[in-house]
Amino acid sequence: MKARVYPDYEAMSVAVAYVVAGKLEEEPSSVLMLPTGITPLGVYGRLVEMHRSEGLSFANATFFNLDEYLGLTPDHRASYHVYMQEHFYGLINADPARVFVPDGATPDPEAECERYEAAIREAGEIDVCVLGIGRNGHIGFNEPGAPFDSRTRVVELSESTRKINASDFEADRAPERAITVGMATIFDSKSVLLLASGTNKAGAVAATVEDDVSESMPASMLRNHPNAVLFLDEAAASDLGHGVAG
Ligand code: F6R
Repeated sequence: MKARVYPDYEAMSVAVAYVVAGKLEEEPSSVLMLPTGITPLGVYGRLVEMHRSEGLSFANATFFNLDEYLGLTPDHRASYHVYMQEHFYGLINADPARVFVPDGATPDPEAECERYEAAIREAGEIDVCVLGIGRNGHIGFNEPGAPFDSRTRVVELSESTRKINASDFEADRAPERAITVGMATIFDSKSVLLLASGTNKAGAVAATVEDDVSESMPASMLRNHPNAVLFLDEAAASDLGHGVAG
């Protein structure tokens, strides 16, 4: 897995935005898979700017989000539906018919997972999958131990993930479960951009790159991917030893 290290978060975000924009310019009907969280905010901001000032169009693209909390309605302020609307989909010319976020409020989560996985299959391959990484190495909500052959499914969130995300919720209680796109679904993407910023990700980044490929460190799976690139700022790269491509 190649790693590109940028001086800071802004530079990293701009670089990722250019990769995504380049893909869209080359193939306007690209299929993108996208994360939420703090890390991609800079990328979304930059893409929105490119849309407004340079006319970058998203009209023919298809979007899939990686995950959603189970039990949250799409209008819950901590839902990923609201996050994506506020930070990205609502600010560009995305076609609502081609925007997919798992339905966390579904009465039948298993059926929703099947429906979601089928929608991904129907869209064809994911051209670009953008990922953040959890401090424990999770990607999407695939927590340590997630099988590499897993597909979209209901998962239990780890205590540490719930703690980190708790402040988004009343009484500081994050939901216990989520729907996430699976590890194999991520792996099937034609290209993967894994983003990490800040010293609190440095340990997970180093383990991803330098330890064994193992289900206990989900992001390490990407080392076997033919076209996965790590985008890091210097802080996130600070625990890496030698041998990382610049
Ligand atoms: C969220 C997701 C998660 C986050 C990860 C990092 O959709 O897929 O894997 O990417 O938890 O979150 P931040 O960027 O907030 O540190």
